[in-house]
Amino acid sequence: MSAVLTNPLRVGLRQERIIPAQCIVIFGASGDLTQRKLIPALFELYRQRRLPSEFAVLGCARRPWSDEEFRSRMADALGEEIAGHGHIWEGFAAGLFYEPADLSNPASILALGQRLEQIDRQRATRGNRTFYLSVSPAFYGSGTRALAAAGLLDDPDRTRVVIEKPFGTDYPSAQALNKVVQASAKEKQIFRIDHYLGKETVQNILVLRFANTIFEPIWNRNYIANVQITAAETVGVEERAGYYESSGALRDMVQNHLTQILALTAMEPPGRFDAEAIRNEKAKVLQAARLAHQGEPWKCCVRGQYGAGGNARSPIPGYREEPGVNPNTTTETYVAMKLFIDNWRWQGVPFYVRTGKRLPKRLSEVVLTFREAPVHLFDAAGGAPTPNQLILRIQPDEGADIRFEVKAPGSGMRSRPVDMAFSYDESFGEPSDEGYVRLLADAMLGDPTLFTRSDEVEAAWRLYTPLLELIEDAPWRLPVQPYEARTWGPAAADNLLAEDGLVWRRP
Ligand code: BG6
Repeated sequence: MSAVLTNPLRVGLRQERIIPAQCIVIFGASGDLTQRKLIPALFELYRQRRLPSEFAVLGCARRPWSDEEFRSRMADALGEEIAGHGHIWEGFAAGLFYEPADLSNPASILALGQRLEQIDRQRATRGNRTFYLSVSPAFYGSGTRALAAAGLLDDPDRTRVVIEKPFGTDYPSAQALNKVVQASAKEKQIFRIDHYLGKETVQNILVLRFANTIFEPIWNRNYIANVQITAAETVGVEERAGYYESSGALRDMVQNHLTQILALTAMEPPGRFDAEAIRNEKAKVLQAARLAHQGEPWKCCVRGQYGAGGNARSPIPGYREEPGVNPNTTTETYVAMKLFIDNWRWQGVPFYVRTGKRLPKRLSEVVLTFREAPVHLFDAAGGAPTPNQLILRIQPDEGADIRFEVKAPGSGMRSRPVDMAFSYDESFGEPSDEGYVRLLADAMLGDPTLFTRSDEVEAAWRLYTPLLELIEDAPWRLPVQPYEARTWGPAAADNLLAEDGLVWRRP
C-alpha cells in the first residue's frame, strides 16, 4: 500500500541525488570565496552524506602550503561548523589535499595532472573532475585553455569547469570569453555559476508557475499590470572595493542575479524539465527584453551612490569614504530601471528592477501586481482597492504571499486587503541549503540546468549595452545620485515609478 502524505509539515521531504566519485579542484584555494562558501558547502554535502566516500578536494593556489596546512586553514574557516562534529571533520579532512599551482603557467598545470592521477588512485575518484575557477576573472579564459592544453578536459563526460562571475564585463568581452572557453571545452562542460540560481526560492519560481494550474492562465499582459524585482542589501561594499569600483551595481547584481530572476519570472513554459529546454526559454525571453527607452536610456534608469548615514552611536561611512574607494568615484551602488519584454505574453507590461547596497533591509523579492477589477462595487478602506499582488519572497523569510481584498468585519460592505502567506520555514521546518551547496552538487553531477548557457549570458549583457555605453561615453547623462545610507535609494528612483502612477513596494 502506498503511503499518502496528508500533512507536509516537518516531514523529511528532501530529495537528493547521489554525487558520483569525484575530485573537485579549486583554483584560488587561498581566497575568500573558498573559505566563506566553497569549503562550507562541500562540508555540508559531506555532513548530509551526499558526497561519496570516493571524493577528494584539491586546493590550488600559488602559496606553498602543504596538505596539512590547507586542512588546518579550512578547519579555521569552518570554525563553529565543526565544533562538536570532530569525527565528521576528520572524515572530510582526509579527502582534502593541496598543490601549489599557477593557472597562468601552463607548465604548472601540466604538473598538476600527475598529482590528480595520484589522488585518483588514493581516493578512487576515477578521473571524475570538477575544476572550479575561483580566481581573478582575467584568468577564466587562459585558465580554461591551460587545463585543456594539459589534457585535463579531454573527457567531456567526466570533466567540467565551473566559472565564477563576472563572465565578461560587457557584451563584446562576454562573446570573446565564450569563444575562448568553447575552444577549450564543450559547452556541456562549462558551468557558469550564478549563486542566485542555487537559492531554493529562485528555483521555486519555476515550480510555482509550472506545477500549478492557478497561476499560469493569468501570468500575462491580460492580468498582470507590472512586475517589480528587488534585491536590497544592508551591507556596504565591505572589503571588496578593488573589485566593486570597476563593477558597480549594474555589473555586480543586475546583469546576473536580477536578470536570472527576471528570466525565470517571464519565460515561457519549457517543453520538458531538462537543462536545454529550460535554458532555451530563458535565452528566448532575454532576447526579447529591452530597456524601456533604448535610444534614451537615461529616461528609464537611475544610478545612485550611498552617502554617509546611521547615527552618532553607529555612523555609516559613505561609499566614497570606504577603504580602497576613489574619493571622487562615480561607481553606482544602486540601480533602478524599467524594462519591457517584446513578446506576446508581456508586450506593454513594465518590469521594474532595483538593487542597492546600504538600504534599510536585506531583502530580495518579486512582486507581480495584477490589473484592477474593472468595476469597484465596494468602498475600500484607504479610498481605492489595493490591486491583487503575488509576492515571491526570495530572502529572507522565504515564501510567497497573495494579497487580495476581503470584506472588512462590520455591517458595511467595505473591502480591505489581506495577505495569504506561505512560509518555507513553517511548511518544511528546516532551513534551505546555501545556494553553493546545491550548485556545487549539480556541477559534480554534471547537471547544468541551474547554470547559465553562453547565449543567455550574452543576451543578458546585450540587454544592458545601451546603458553601459552611456555610462562610458556620456556619464553626465546618467550621474550617480547620492542617497543616505539606510534609506531606499535616491528620490529619482521613486520618480521613475511615479511617472507611471506607481510606487515601489515598501516591505
Ligand atoms: C554577489 C555580489 O554576487 O552577491 C555581492 O558580488 C552581493 O556584491 C551578493 O553582496 C549578494 O548575495 P546574497 O546571496 O547575499 O543576496
